[in-house]
Amino acid sequence: MTEFETVARLDELEPGSLACARVGDEDVALARIGDEVYALQGHCIHLQGPLCEGRLDGHVLSCPWHGWQYDVRTGENEFDRAIKLETYPVQIEDGEVKVAI
Ligand code: FES
Repeated sequence: MTEFETVARLDELEPGSLACARVGDEDVALARIGDEVYALQGHCIHLQGPLCEGRLDGHVLSCPWHGWQYDVRTGENEFDRAIKLETYPVQIEDGEVKVAI
């Protein structure tokens, strides 16, 4: 069964911002867009850049190291859709953001 773990409070995440989280042994990047939160693997597929320290423009996350870009809704690389980050299910309950790995 999938277990959801609380990683943040929704009101701690500014709309349009990224945040770092850890679920079990995994680094996770959180992206808040409006009232939705997306969770993705924390490290870039290129050279493991820390994605939660990148930039979010709309639904596009740019890696802080060399600028690879991903759609946070799907994890797909913007230039080559065959390259894809892991995405994780998110639940928001009572103002808490929960992620399952
Ligand atoms: S490590 Fe992310 S673009 Fe190079």
